[in-house]
Amino acid sequence: MHEHDVLVVGAGGAGLRAAIEAHEEGADVAMVTKLHPVRSHTGAAEGGINAALHPEDSWELHAYDTMKGSDYLADAPAVETFAKDAPDEVIQLEHWGMPFSREEDGTVSQRPFGGLSHPRTTYAGAETGHHLLHTMYEQVVKRGITVYEEWYVLDLAVTDHDDVEDRECHGVVAYDIALEDMEFVQFHPTTLPSTGVLISEGVRGEGGILYNEDEERFMFERGYANNEGELASRDVVSRAELTEVNSGRGIEDEYVHLDMRHLGEERILDRLENILHLAEDFEGVDGLDEPMPVKPGQHYQMGGVECDENGHTCIDGLYAAGETACVSLHGSNRLGGNALPELLVFGARAGKHAAGGDMKHAEISTGPGAESEAGELDDGIRIGAIESGSEGVAADGAAVDAQTVVEAEVQRQRDRVERLLEEDGINHAHVRDDIQETMTANVNVFRREETLKRALEDIHEARERYQHVSASDPSRTYNTDLIHTIETRNVLDVAEAIAVGALARKEFRGAHWREQYQYRDDEEWLKHTMLAWNDGNPRLYYKPVLLEAEKEYEPKERSY
Ligand code: FUM
Repeated sequence: MHEHDVLVVGAGGAGLRAAIEAHEEGADVAMVTKLHPVRSHTGAAEGGINAALHPEDSWELHAYDTMKGSDYLADAPAVETFAKDAPDEVIQLEHWGMPFSREEDGTVSQRPFGGLSHPRTTYAGAETGHHLLHTMYEQVVKRGITVYEEWYVLDLAVTDHDDVEDRECHGVVAYDIALEDMEFVQFHPTTLPSTGVLISEGVRGEGGILYNEDEERFMFERGYANNEGELASRDVVSRAELTEVNSGRGIEDEYVHLDMRHLGEERILDRLENILHLAEDFEGVDGLDEPMPVKPGQHYQMGGVECDENGHTCIDGLYAAGETACVSLHGSNRLGGNALPELLVFGARAGKHAAGGDMKHAEISTGPGAESEAGELDDGIRIGAIESGSEGVAADGAAVDAQTVVEAEVQRQRDRVERLLEEDGINHAHVRDDIQETMTANVNVFRREETLKRALEDIHEARERYQHVSASDPSRTYNTDLIHTIETRNVLDVAEAIAVGALARKEFRGAHWREQYQYRDDEEWLKHTMLAWNDGNPRLYYKPVLLEAEKEYEPKERSY
């Protein structure tokens, strides 16, 4: 058993930033990661990092744009903390050697992104995430932080008190905390049709134009966004593209065109070279000579593990930051360019708090507190785990030492792995394919009551089949089949959380479109969806949205 003061799970951008900050606070820090840090998914982020750096820009404008982009479902204390801290994070990166794209006079370049009232997105070509990972990994190496690489976390070692707020996390080896606002899934408007590979919003930020089959600049000509056009927020542009395709104005009934030829070779090579390679390699299209085919692709999860502005969850000792977390900064729709500063700002805060740093008390409260309101699902919907609940340690409020908690969890996970390796069963891929198929067909950009219910029934059946899976590869070293088999169990919970939240939320807000409810219902639905599993029994409840911090954000009609 290895012991450290602070253990960071995952070495994407948020994990790296948290580890650096905890180390700065003097903690003995270690990272556990299933991949080498520079192979983490942050590396796929192309576009950039929003921060109000320009003298004519301000954190207040950044906060306002983020609240509007969220369709007024973000929590103001999170948004303001984020907008205030983001500039210092970008300057810190620059001091660590991040190769930002620059203007002739040496200042860091900033370009427009969707939903921003000022060109605020800093970037490094169209490979910002890649450079971000390398820059921060260098800092981890320099500080000698221990990295347990290619280690896969099976579960968390938490005590099992009835009241979730009394639980403590003593390490990793059930987390029964809630996943917040999971129904809000972002579809990025420009991904390559054959692979889903991202074509950065930076292309539209630089002036790229979307056309339908009739060569109409449909964002303006069809009235989807009369002011911002291609730079409306992502939920708006993705729905517009699919509406064009569904109305018979798509190319090959599938996609639209993104044209950047008019930007000129010099500017494209300077700022978007990577995009040329992606279009050529994956679609055989030369972006200097032809428009590129694009369609919406699943991109980002706005919801996640509930936490406060310091990354703290309702379980003592357990923190979350980055895409896995829900502070809530993005509400029902994230603005492009807000994910990378999110992982910097909240990664750093989580690292500092976990290491005992002196921080302001969080304004956002977590856990099923007094202000929560019970939610209900229609009769006949079957959700929740089928396997018997986990036997935790120290139910009944008994005090247990950390070692006992960790050892009991290690044993539970050993038994689980032995069963998957030793027993004969079906391959997890069948279960995973079924989930993927039903989520794509039934819980996509456009959502209907009957298809959401179908998805939940499919997920329940997939849970039943999962009872019979085992690993096809019996080997005990580097067994990726075993890892994917375990991961598929988590995929079931995530898919169900998305579909349950989507079915229950009877309104149209941000990325969540409902056929029967074509309006945002602030009276009934200005609240966060919470879903907690306790020993496999799901509980749906709601908590209020915080629209006031230093400033107040009154929900307004959202148009671009
Ligand atoms: O379009 C992009 O480059 C992606 C940026 C983001 O999701 O923040």
